[in-house]
Formats: sequence, structure tokens, C-alpha cells
Amino acid sequence: MSSPTGVLGDLHRVLLSTEEIHARVSAMAGQIEKDYAGRLITVVALMDGALFFVADLLRQIDLPIRLVTLGASSYHGGTHSSGEVRLNWPSGVSFQEQHVLLLDDILDTGLTLAALHERLRQEAPASLRTGVLLRKNRPRAQECPVDYCGFEIGDEFVVGYGMDYQGRFRNLPCIGILRP
Ligand code: IMP
Ligand code: MG
Repeated sequence: MSSPTGVLGDLHRVLLSTEEIHARVSAMAGQIEKDYAGRLITVVALMDGALFFVADLLRQIDLPIRLVTLGASSYHGGTHSSGEVRLNWPSGVSFQEQHVLLLDDILDTGLTLAALHERLRQEAPASLRTGVLLRKNRPRAQECPVDYCGFEIGDEFVVGYGMDYQGRFRNLPCIGILRP
């Protein structure tokens, strides 16, 4: 067992409540459903951070969806990007002529999304858009267009709703800032 107050006890403060997240994710699902009406969407979801976001979002989109998950990491455990993006590219999956929607939890330096965006563009999709739950207000190492954004946040390290610190806190239902 960890702290007596549970995992929420490790938070310095809650940035986005469970209710706020769910309301925004529902609105994003509605927008995506409208934009992709009549199409099959190939969602490329970055694991593990986007797991909860993507699970909640996709279940509210009433359209045919093909889900491809892939692993990418640039943090390798700490609270700052290492600057190097490692991709686990799926073998035997074609994106050609597909309407690809690339989803991640958070846009920080932009390196991860930009690397994936460039890699997917080379696969000749019919269309390619990106969506993130959070976008940090900070200078980007790499610019990448974002078509769907849940919330703009400050330049702080956040955990919860899929996002981790050293592998922990992904299961928090809200998004918060850790105690220093
Ligand atoms: P970027 O390549 O710097 O934009 O980083 C994006 C990735 O870093 C995301 O997919 C997250 O997994 C991770 N990340 C960035 N900022 C945070 C944070 O504040 N908390 C937890 N993970 C983060
Ligand atoms: Mg990630």
C-alpha cells in the first residue's frame, strides 16, 4: 500500500478535474465525428500516455474506426524530454489511402508528434490529422500542426489520466501537478 490518502495524496494540486476532462473529451469526440462523417478513421494512438484519452474519446465516436497503437518515448523515465524519439513502428500495417488521425496525450517539445507525423506522411495516407488532450504553452523544439486540442496548459509537469512520472500515476482519474 502507498500513502493512506491513496494516489491523490501525492498531488500538489489538481489542474483538471475528472468532470472537466470528460466534458472536453466528449466535445472533441463530437467534433471529430462531424469532421469525419461517412469515413473510416485510422486512429494511431501513442502508448502508454494516450491510453485513457483514446479509450474515452473513441467510445464516443459513432463511426467506423481502425485502431493502431504504437509505442514512442522521448522521456526515458524523468521529467524532461531526452530529445531523442524512439518509435516502435508496427509491422504489416498499411496507412496508404487511409484517413489517419494521430493521437497523443500531450504536446510538450513537439518532437514526438513531429517525428510520427513525418513518418506517417511518408506512408501516403489520404489525410493526416493530429489530436492531443493537452498542449503545453512553451517554445517547441519542433513545430507540428495540431488539429484537435483538449486544453492549453502552462509549462508544468503533469500526471494522471494516462500520464506518468517514472511509470506511476497513470491511473489518476484527474490531471494534476506532483508535490515538489
Ligand atoms: P514531446 O516529444 O516533448 O512533445 O513529448 C511528448 C511526450 O512526452 C508525451 O507523449 C508524453 O508521454 C511525455 N510528456 C510530456 N510532457 C509530460 C508531462 O508533463 N507529464 C507526463 N508526460 C509528459
Ligand atoms: Mg507519450
